[in-house]
Amino acid sequence: MLDVIWVGGNIASMEVGAGPWGAIRDAALGVKDGRVAWIGPRADLPGPPEGMARKVCDFPGQWITPGLIDCHTHLVHGGNRAREFEMRLEGASYEEIARAGGGIVSTVKATRAADEATLLDSAAKRLAALTREGITAIEIKSGYGLDLETELKQLRVARRLGEQAGVTVRTTFLGAHALPAEFEGRADDYIDFVCAESLPAAAEAGLADAVDAFCESIAFSPAQTERVFRRAAELDLPVKLHADQLSDLGGAALAARHGALSADHLEYTGEAGVKAMVAAGTVAVLLPGAFYTLREVQLPPIDLFRRHGVPIAIATDSNPGSSPATSILLMLNMACTLFRMTPEEALAGVTRNAARALGMQATNGVLARGKAADFCIWNIAEPAELAYRIGFNPLDRRVRAGDEDLAVNSEARRV
Ligand code: NIG
Ligand code: FE
Repeated sequence: MLDVIWVGGNIASMEVGAGPWGAIRDAALGVKDGRVAWIGPRADLPGPPEGMARKVCDFPGQWITPGLIDCHTHLVHGGNRAREFEMRLEGASYEEIARAGGGIVSTVKATRAADEATLLDSAAKRLAALTREGITAIEIKSGYGLDLETELKQLRVARRLGEQAGVTVRTTFLGAHALPAEFEGRADDYIDFVCAESLPAAAEAGLADAVDAFCESIAFSPAQTERVFRRAAELDLPVKLHADQLSDLGGAALAARHGALSADHLEYTGEAGVKAMVAAGTVAVLLPGAFYTLREVQLPPIDLFRRHGVPIAIATDSNPGSSPATSILLMLNMACTLFRMTPEEALAGVTRNAARALGMQATNGVLARGKAADFCIWNIAEPAELAYRIGFNPLDRRVRAGDEDLAVNSEARRV
């Protein structure tokens, strides 16, 4: 006996090899113990739904998609950087602001000063904006503490957020995000500290699911990044990398050499990097919010990713500097308009490929028998509408592990 069976609408399962969108029209979806136990055309059900499940739910004419996954965020942080936004409008560049002591290190100051409850409260509001748009899983990085205590504080808050909001949280340790003031002029010493103290402490406390670094002229060199990655391997933690965002330091190839789950940003990645990624199974995570905010002009090599078969994910990169974004639907639109991705590619980027970027593909990212019953119910006539609109949220309900959020967005029901 199933717990629930959903009938009456359509499903975009996002399964590979199941046609466009993995679409099943006039579908049925059965849930048992938080997992998908039956999925297919309603006409194929072995009997009447009432006889198969304790509860029958209707989703008349609507679309179900897998729960959306935001696979790259810096959601937990103190303060904001609206002043830098103004400075950029007055002509300063992101790099100039960072070199003048603004940028990431200014958020570090605010995050160190904030207590756990304050961090939790501010991040919960940003997370609520994302769950209202159908996010059921999210990655959250540290990297605004840089000292041991604040890095662990950020990661603890990230884990608590997930429990509180009914969202699956994957935490990533990003100690090598920026050089803290107390290590001025001593970047190698700071990397020593990350490898000897903060990273092992985060691993020991069970607070890190992965390890990330920012490989860039304003952050850490490829050699310093590799030291962090070798330490991560010793601690049995997978890696990912902020790579080739502002210049080509060979970051994508470096990430691939270390078997990274993902390489992220990638505006300056060349063909050698793309080939290395495909060989390693590394996902390309593209961040249109940062591209837009920094008014980048160099596009990530989308055609090369397509040609070589690199899976592409899309994320908000939600952070107070380069991407103060809390709308995954806007990212879908930007992925299409700015990066010329198709709406189907964009949706795969926040479902199937985002799951893979987090190493969660065994359980999440597509709707199929045995997968987590994490899904969204949308008031749309065709799935391309998810990427088409700007600033409109058609989510009706969000279901996680079989449990339904009540009236997530009752506004949408009236449209
Ligand atoms: O992904 N590139 C480095 N890190 C963040 C920006 C963080 C910040 O500006 O506070 C990013 O864009
Ligand atoms: Fe980032």
